Order: sequence, then structure tokens, then C-alpha cells
Amino acid sequence: MNELKHIAMIMDGNGRWAQCQGKKRFVGHEAGSERVREVTRYCAEHPEIERLSLFAFSTENWKRPKLEVEFLMKLLSHYLEKELPTYLEMGVKFEMIGDASRFTPALQKQISELEEETKHGTRLIQHLALNYGSRNEILRAINSLKNSEMVTEESLGNALDCKHNVDLLIRTGGEHRLSNYLLWQSAYAELFFSDTLWPDFTSAELESIIARFKNIDRRFGGVK
Ligand code: FPP
Repeated sequence: MNELKHIAMIMDGNGRWAQCQGKKRFVGHEAGSERVREVTRYCAEHPEIERLSLFAFSTENWKRPKLEVEFLMKLLSHYLEKELPTYLEMGVKFEMIGDASRFTPALQKQISELEEETKHGTRLIQHLALNYGSRNEILRAINSLKNSEMVTEESLGNALDCKHNVDLLIRTGGEHRLSNYLLWQSAYAELFFSDTLWPDFTSAELESIIARFKNIDRRFGGVK
């Protein structure tokens, strides 16, 4: 049975979920933030899972209508403000991945405060990908290494925001693409695409994907 240390998720389908019900896209994002909690709890309760990396806002999401971006920033700020007791109760350590420099100083402060306040969490590390894009992450890593004589897989991997290989990558919402998410770290990830829209994704579906993952013959380019 395969080891499962790191799950990554592309949480897609919030907008369609709301539109299907004749509601504004914002309503879908709000419902989606509730699912973040459920999935995080499931992972925190399964000791084998060490990390959960959730794609919450990409380097490309700034292209969305101004009102939607503003709403997502407010939702994020509200989430960071209210989630501390839940993180502490679940034993979750929060770590942002991505480039925080484009966020307002107030939001940057909230992010670093939550990182500081949850730093003793031992049950799960939740990486929230915010203003995250793999290409941007890799470029920042390369630039941070430009005085090195030789860049190696190891030195580049260690200069990334997320330094850990992904075992299982799940995308909800029916599309089959990676959208610039954890490209380096997912080199040998098992990819699962679910048609479920993110606000409908449950820990029961996660459990059934994990059960399928467990039985895959993972060879990492070798033979068995
Ligand atoms: C994709 O749905 C999702 C996002 C752009 C962001 C993910 C955000 C959340 C899950 C909610 C906020 C999370 C936190 C932690 C506060 P989409 O808008 O692309 O949906 P669509 O493909 O149906 O249009």
C-alpha cells in the first residue's frame, strides 16, 4: 500500500456551483471556504497525512473582475481572522506558500500572525497557496540561488516555498489541468480529477479517492 504524506488540492468549481443555483459567484466562494475546514479536519485526523496543500488564490486570479478579487481578499482576511481556534483545536500548523508581497500590509500581517500562532501544531501542516503559481515560485527560487556555483535538483527543491513532493493531487470541478500548481513537487504525484464542484466535495469522497490511491502501482520511473 502506498504511503500518503502529502495531498494537494485544486479547489475548483465554486463559481459554477453558485451559478447553477442562480446565485452570485461569491456565494460559491463562501461555501468553498467551509469545505476547506472539513477537508483539513479529515487530514488532521489521519496521522499518516503530514501535509495538505490547498490552492486558494493563484498568480493568475488577479485577472478576475475587480469585485470578485476584492471579495476573495475579504473572504481570506475573514477566514484568517476566525480560523485560529479551529487550527489550534485540530493541531494544524498553517503555512502560506506563494508570494505575499502583492497583498496589503494588513493581510500580510494576518498571514504571518496565523503562521506564528499555529507553529506548534503537530497533526498536520496546511499549506495555503495564496498568490501562488509554480512558475513564479520556481523563478523566485532560481533568483535566490543566483550566486550558487551550480544549481542542483536538491538546492532548487529546497529553495521553493513548498519543499515536499506531492503524493496525491486532486482537482475538483471537472477540468483536467494543473493550472500552474505545484508543478515541480508533483513530478510523480498521482493525479485524480473529480467532477464534483468544490463546495460539494466531502471528506467521504476524499476517503474514496485515497482508497484508490492506496492501490496504485507507483514505480517512480523504475520497475518492480
Ligand atoms: C475556484 O473556483 C476557486 C478559487 C478561485 C479559489 C478557491 C477559494 C476557495 C475554496 C474559497 C476561499 C478559501 C479560503 C481559504 C478563504 P472558480 O471560481 O474558478 O469556479 P468556477 O471554475 O466554477 O468558475
